[in-house]
Amino acid sequence: MAFEPRIVAFLCNWCAYGAADQAGRAHLEYPQSLLTIRVPCTGRVEPAFVLQAFREGADAVLVAGCHPGDCHYVDGNLKAHARHALLSRALEQAGIEPARLRLAWAGAAEAERFAGVVRELTAEVAALGPLDYPGRALHSASDAIVTTPHRLDGLEEARRSPRAPGKPRVAFYWNASCGGCEEAVVDLGEGFADLAERVEIVLWPVALDFKRRDVEALPDGGIDVAFVNGAVRLSEQDDWAVLLRRKARTVVAFGACAHLGGVVGLGNLSEPAELLDTAYRKQPTVSNPEQLLPGTRVLAAGHDLTLPTLLSRALPLAEAVPVDYVIPGCPPSPALIAAALEQLLSGAPPPPPGSVLAPNVSLCDACPRKDSRPERLSIRALARLATTQPDEATCFLAQGLVCLGPATRQGCQPGCVEVNMPCRGCFGPLDGVADGGAAMLSAFASILSGDEAELSRLVATLPDPAGTFWRYGFGAGLLPRRVRQEARPAAAGPGEHEP
Ligand code: FES
Repeated sequence: MAFEPRIVAFLCNWCAYGAADQAGRAHLEYPQSLLTIRVPCTGRVEPAFVLQAFREGADAVLVAGCHPGDCHYVDGNLKAHARHALLSRALEQAGIEPARLRLAWAGAAEAERFAGVVRELTAEVAALGPLDYPGRALHSASDAIVTTPHRLDGLEEARRSPRAPGKPRVAFYWNASCGGCEEAVVDLGEGFADLAERVEIVLWPVALDFKRRDVEALPDGGIDVAFVNGAVRLSEQDDWAVLLRRKARTVVAFGACAHLGGVVGLGNLSEPAELLDTAYRKQPTVSNPEQLLPGTRVLAAGHDLTLPTLLSRALPLAEAVPVDYVIPGCPPSPALIAAALEQLLSGAPPPPPGSVLAPNVSLCDACPRKDSRPERLSIRALARLATTQPDEATCFLAQGLVCLGPATRQGCQPGCVEVNMPCRGCFGPLDGVADGGAAMLSAFASILSGDEAELSRLVATLPDPAGTFWRYGFGAGLLPRRVRQEARPAAAGPGEHEP
């Protein structure tokens, strides 16, 4: 049977929904594979809705509404146009054909026009084939290693067992990260001396010489709090995540990479084979005359030197093991760390499980420039930080610079803004937001101004939408990553190599 694409259609109540209704009553022919969702205006269709539709099985998404000039909310459809233009480019960066996301206008009486759009979209997407990508099902980790059953058996018993007497035992560990989160602990300054006095540190690889066997020797639940920074990108990091989860009564995802995948998560835009090829063969950072890749077994002087393998994608810590709390930021600010340590180690009632230990308000609310923000922001031309010296007292958005403060959580005090840098979103979204990147894209698109052609031109001047809006959250976001055909050559297979 010929492939019939599943299309999710968000239809404006005032026009396209009426057109679809009329098309049905008039028995106009168009494919029946359309799942329609009535919305008050195309301006209400958040990018996250589109990504969720893809995530849940749509091969294409149609957003249809009133013609420009006819929107019942003045310019909701133009906001939809700007979002669509940005999101299409981000999808393309992630390997999803932009043709799978269509924005169309159809008045309530334009049944034939609506049916024509559906027929055309169906034919285009049928030619592309089904949309399939790893991790499509919600919460399915892409690696067998991460879904190994029984790896956390007995965890609950360990967490509920009585804690050992004495000072709280604390561990710090780092997975795939730059090390900035470790530095942030040192940046506690005098507060660090106080911490060292109050707790027993049982693991801190950046500063103290503990070995893995020291951690393995601890009883399950023997660590009170483990602060784990970094994404989980390697098999070895996954092993450490499981070990620490087993040994710690409380695990904190510490910093943006553990929280959302961080900058490391942007590696998910490329296939592991591409990453390895670049890092070990095309532009090696070490001498590698034999073009070896991790996974190749090297036996030298009686030692097995097999390197850990790269997982198929970088995972936020919570996708590898259950996480109790999050301290966000790249890196978390010393004030936030100090407050979190106090909350978790003082014996006070713990915060609700799953809490992000930072204020649940947007950065704009605390921005020292907030009074310079116009009541109705409107961007007609984008400025670039590389070629602009921003005014130090004026809202970045009012200067045409991309600033993600409206959709980013507070907690940085606000660090970047204080040194004349716009917010780049490292503290992640507010509570209840499914995808911070989608929320940031949506907020930014909403303040772009112009007619359709002007908006298209404006959006085209923004380089790298995926890297701009999902800089820290791609690893945990809804934006799908699809295996590109040209990236399918086999990664390093396990093999043996005797030097
Ligand atoms: Fe129809 Fe805004 S009311 S698109």
